[in-house]
Amino acid sequence: MRVTVGVSGGIAAYKAAELVRALQRQALEVHVVMTGAATRFVQPLTFAALTGHKVITSLWDDTGAGDGSYEASTEQNGIEHIGEAQWADALVVAPATANILAKFAHGIADDFLTTLYLATAAPVLVAPAMNVNMWEHPATQANLEILRQRGVRVIEPGTGELACGMVGAGRMAEPEAIAGAVLGALGRRHDLAGEIVLVTAGGTREALDPVRFLGNRSSGKMGYALAEAAHSRGAKVILISGPSALHPPPQCELIKITTADQMRQAVLERMTEATLVVKAAAVADYRPVNVSEQKLKRTGPITLELAPTEDILAEVVRRRRPGQLIVGFAAETENRMENGRAKLLRKGADAIVVNDVAGEGVGIDADSNAATFLTLTTAIELPEMPKRKLADRILDEILTLRRPRPLVLEFDEHVDERSRPEKTGPEKARQDEVLSQSVPPSSARRQLIVE
Ligand SMILES: Cc1cc2nc3c(=O)[nH]c(=O)nc-3n(C[C@H](O)[C@H](O)[C@H](O)COP(=O)(O)O)c2cc1C
Repeated sequence: MRVTVGVSGGIAAYKAAELVRALQRQALEVHVVMTGAATRFVQPLTFAALTGHKVITSLWDDTGAGDGSYEASTEQNGIEHIGEAQWADALVVAPATANILAKFAHGIADDFLTTLYLATAAPVLVAPAMNVNMWEHPATQANLEILRQRGVRVIEPGTGELACGMVGAGRMAEPEAIAGAVLGALGRRHDLAGEIVLVTAGGTREALDPVRFLGNRSSGKMGYALAEAAHSRGAKVILISGPSALHPPPQCELIKITTADQMRQAVLERMTEATLVVKAAAVADYRPVNVSEQKLKRTGPITLELAPTEDILAEVVRRRRPGQLIVGFAAETENRMENGRAKLLRKGADAIVVNDVAGEGVGIDADSNAATFLTLTTAIELPEMPKRKLADRILDEILTLRRPRPLVLEFDEHVDERSRPEKTGPEKARQDEVLSQSVPPSSARRQLIVE
């Protein structure tokens, strides 16, 4: 997706460079448009270098051979502000000066950025930054109100010491928070911000001789999709992958391994920093006891002796630190639910994603998958869908594990509806009463569910 960052002329203009980087980390393509005043604070070259694109600073093409008129400009380059307006999926102005807010509010289009604002149908966000008196001035507040009513998203400034030396509201929101708001406006979730997600992916290979190995058909598609989804939702991602033909998702830290033992070492080394561990790799369960130093010759039937590999998931669960979530995968060809449940209990993970790898067109190496997200208390069916979409659904379910479990209190009591405390908001305990079918109404059994 594509975002145009508008930079107007305030002290915070230098922070727009951090915003550009934050947006790029979310795999967004970024263009920068600057007002004339903004170029007094930061050189356009800074943004050109960061984005790899020309930075637009004027409606007029100064390099044109014409007389500098609008017509001369459009003949050379096309109507750039319209092109930019159509290119962008979102326009974010950071910092937004009192001046730019006033111009936006009143439809003044006397430079590239203000003209672009009128020409675009994309969502518009503004991150105001200014002196506290300018911020509190009724003119500024009235302009903001007009913009809010028009659907412009105002990313409120913070309070603190300002560049002018005064203390109060007017400090531009942090670039990460602005990037989060842009993702929200683009319909992209940012609910894993601050999380460090360790994902394992692909299969492992256990050597038989210098050229042969025991492996499996895992392509890494599910793990890579999870890594990409977690990153796009704001997480820092460590991807530990067995051999895979896939391009690793950009911005994820990739650690390549080959054997089950290397996978174990890498996972144990990096798991301490993770807040969430998702083990989607198909790790070998057995390795050959003897690895031939020379290539095995065909001399007749041979028998391979195999030894079990270490159980990485169980070890990860044993070493987990408080608050860390551990989710495993189970690829099953029969008795899916029974085997999945047994694995969940045996390993002690928070959840197991059970997939049927015997189905047509789903599971190992396929582009789609269907799965059951299994916890001790729930079994959520995730029907067949592309792996990237499934990755998001799995992350949705994982996030529900972070929510505190409801406390269920059961008692026999007559409850007088009029005496119950009034609920005032979603942050208050949700009270839900369920009348048991098994007891007569005169002695009602009640459940109080406190979330
Ligand atoms: C040193 C300096 C710092 C400024 N900082 C801000 C600021 O933080 N916020 C603001 O709204 N205006 C600030 N201004 C005023 C704007 O630069 C001025 O209103 C200008 O016309 C804004 O133009 P633009 O909105 O087209 O970028 C500052 C001016 C100077 C000289």
